[in-house]
Amino acid sequence: MPGPIVIVGAGQAGVQIAESLRHEKYGGPITLLGAEAHGPYNRPPLSKKWLLERGSTASLAIRGLEVLARRKIDLHTHSTVTAIDRGARVVHCADGNKYEYGGLALATGARLRVLPVPGAGLRGVLGLRTLDDSQQIGAALDDCVATSKPLVVIGGGFIGLEVAATARKRGIAVTVLEGLDRLMSRVVAPIVSEAAARLHRSHGVELVFGARVTELVGSGGAVRAVRMADGREYPAGCVVVGIGVEPEDTLARAAGLECDRGIVVDEHSRSSDPEIVAAGDCCARRLPGGTLLRLESVQNAVEQGMSAAATLLGHTRPVKAAPWFWSDQYDARLQMVGLSQGYDEVVTRGDVAQFAFSAFYFRAGRLLAVDSLNHAHYHMLGRRLLDRGLSPTPAQAADENFNLQSLLAP
Ligand code: APR
Repeated sequence: MPGPIVIVGAGQAGVQIAESLRHEKYGGPITLLGAEAHGPYNRPPLSKKWLLERGSTASLAIRGLEVLARRKIDLHTHSTVTAIDRGARVVHCADGNKYEYGGLALATGARLRVLPVPGAGLRGVLGLRTLDDSQQIGAALDDCVATSKPLVVIGGGFIGLEVAATARKRGIAVTVLEGLDRLMSRVVAPIVSEAAARLHRSHGVELVFGARVTELVGSGGAVRAVRMADGREYPAGCVVVGIGVEPEDTLARAAGLECDRGIVVDEHSRSSDPEIVAAGDCCARRLPGGTLLRLESVQNAVEQGMSAAATLLGHTRPVKAAPWFWSDQYDARLQMVGLSQGYDEVVTRGDVAQFAFSAFYFRAGRLLAVDSLNHAHYHMLGRRLLDRGLSPTPAQAADENFNLQSLLAP
């Protein structure tokens, strides 16, 4: 057993490492250091249900403070780690505190990409990553409702579209400005992007593609419009910028760990220093072929958190499961499993027009990924097929009369 274990970052991955350590019968001290004022909380509702209803912050907790205390997980909020001294095995915090470690885990997450245009610092220009961000956006949407001003969203990815849907539920006029030619292009194929565009338009969202934002225009220090390269201006009571995230690897980089748009880890969540593990959005996992895989998802934080805890204790629990993600927009649920990059064929099953279908992606006839819109059964089936390395043929996937479940039979 290592000596005291210090975990930097009290998000989904950090709390998972702590709990998995206890689950694996580690009885020594665990210190969980988080920069925020809040204990570990769930982020997915921040752009959806919680943003709409803004209930208690306690309802967002991944684990209650009393549960952490009972498990002897020593949580320190307001604790920003500024340096790791690998020689002395100590981490230093901004408040002057330092913590010695026998085992160290990094779960530092990701930070918002900043829009590099004049006016990005105006009041009412907001990004969404933290609970505090969501509270601010909620208050800004209240103002939009009160003043009948529109919301402009920059970025047609998950965050932007979820916030757009939430704002429409509140009756706010919404324009989404997307730089590329389709929605969610980082993750889904054109057929799913098209369905999402129809869905948003049917709810009254104006979608602008190929958008080049050049300036956020203010008056009295507050944003009042978004200006585009072609001279168009979109009035805005509030602007939400959702143009992606960057892994937070600053600390690891400064400590000399290998980083390449994320802390480079292996399938056991080990960094280039075998005594330091890392998990979650801050990581780039090296796959057997050498390519680096960066995932931003709850599932990845949980899986890597479990594997990082095992590694700290000298056990093995490699990360293997097919990656999956989800997004809720209006009453539609989009679920994705696998990675579709590099596909050469896509077939659908279900009713695309009625927003209830799955897209199955193949390369050389083998299943790579399944995206499902209001088609949860096929998402679950996709997970089981991909986890077991099984593949229907494209014709079987597209044939409603073919029972895909039969492929799982022993
Ligand atoms: N102008 C307009 N659009 C832009 C610009 C820009 N300058 N820069 C990027 N975009 C677009 C991208 O083309 C993409 O469609 O912004 C979108 C960002 O989408 P994501 O990469 O999915 O990032 P985001 O929606 O911010 O989500 C960040 O939060 O919920 C999680 O899984 C989600 O991990 C992801 C993170």
